[in-house]
Amino acid sequence: MPAKGARHLMREHGLHHTTDVLVVGGGVIGLVTAWRAAQRGLATAVADPAPGGGAAHVAAGMLAAVTELQYGEQALLDLNLASAARYPDFAAELTELTGLDTGYRRCGTLAVALDADDRAHLRELHAFQTSLGLESQWLSGRECRRLEPMLAPGVRGGLRVDGDHQVDPRRLSTALLRAADLAGVVFLRSAVARVTADGDRVTGAVLADGTVVAAARTVLAAGSESGRIAGLPDDALPPVRPVKGQILRLRMPAGQPPFLTRTVRAVVRGSHVYLVPRDNGELVLGATSEEFGWDTTVTAGGVYELLRDAHELLPGITELALTETLAGLRPGSPDNAPLLGATALDGLLLATGHHRNGVLLTPVTGDVLAEVLTSSTGELPQYARAFGANRFTTTGTGPVPPAPARQEQHA
Ligand code: GLY
Repeated sequence: MPAKGARHLMREHGLHHTTDVLVVGGGVIGLVTAWRAAQRGLATAVADPAPGGGAAHVAAGMLAAVTELQYGEQALLDLNLASAARYPDFAAELTELTGLDTGYRRCGTLAVALDADDRAHLRELHAFQTSLGLESQWLSGRECRRLEPMLAPGVRGGLRVDGDHQVDPRRLSTALLRAADLAGVVFLRSAVARVTADGDRVTGAVLADGTVVAAARTVLAAGSESGRIAGLPDDALPPVRPVKGQILRLRMPAGQPPFLTRTVRAVVRGSHVYLVPRDNGELVLGATSEEFGWDTTVTAGGVYELLRDAHELLPGITELALTETLAGLRPGSPDNAPLLGATALDGLLLATGHHRNGVLLTPVTGDVLAEVLTSSTGELPQYARAFGANRFTTTGTGPVPPAPARQEQHA
């Protein structure tokens, strides 16, 4: 129920705002949190100088719960699958409310192998997927090329996963912005200078333009920036780190037969490469994964490696127009899973740490945060209990389970 009326709950006194919920960060995670909170009748504000940006502006938008499966991440798999299952209704609801298309497309994914090592990895992944009851079909190289004729003759086999789809994160952001606005969310177009606290209670934030925001609850949803927000004690800062991803956008020729019909991915010399074809002719090629701090430079080496690896999969790619190069920062937590809900500080909640799965986890994150913000206990719903915001803190009230072992990437 759009909470247009919620706006009246927010008092405006010049540069002073009072609100039930302040969401710090207007990327897809912040926007979905704000939208769902406002729908539940909470006066909600988003602080971000450029809402609708963030990592999702760079991301390809693969909804790859099955093909990006990692060993040791079964709990995350369940959350990813829960979110993937929400996507059809989520996208339809956004479109119905806003009239905007999110680019959600049930295209399926093909993960292919180029050499004997890749093939062995994919075989293992297939066995793992099957052991978990996931839908995944082994194909010979010839069968892969029958599905996607532009694939290189050297493709040795692959996994057909018809349940891994795509959304266009830029369209998704635009639709979320509109839906949040319609629901009465107030956009404060300024960065957060610092979070404010009164003892152990977080009370809102002061923005870079001088606005003082008093909030009953403050949700940090600023992606990797959440880990260096000013005003919080060091041990209350979320343990998120920036993981750089460089990505390219190309243009496929119009006409038949199509260049590519579904997402194709592979691991080439240990690096993930994926190609996501959109209905509008855009082909997104990603992505590097680099742990070099706050750098978002697009490098010649990054572009070269992506094109070199993609060229091995799809030799025809060198004919396409290269329309955009960009780098973004994934917010990585210690176990690369999201940090959700209440923290040790009263009034402070987290919705960050989504790492490679921010776009995929957008629908479920909105539901989880809405439930936490409106329940009397403030507890996470059962299906999200493994992702508590306190799980890595020593001062927190939540349990501190051991981080799942990092494993070699197989997808
Ligand atoms: N999920 C794809 C990526 O993070 O590159």
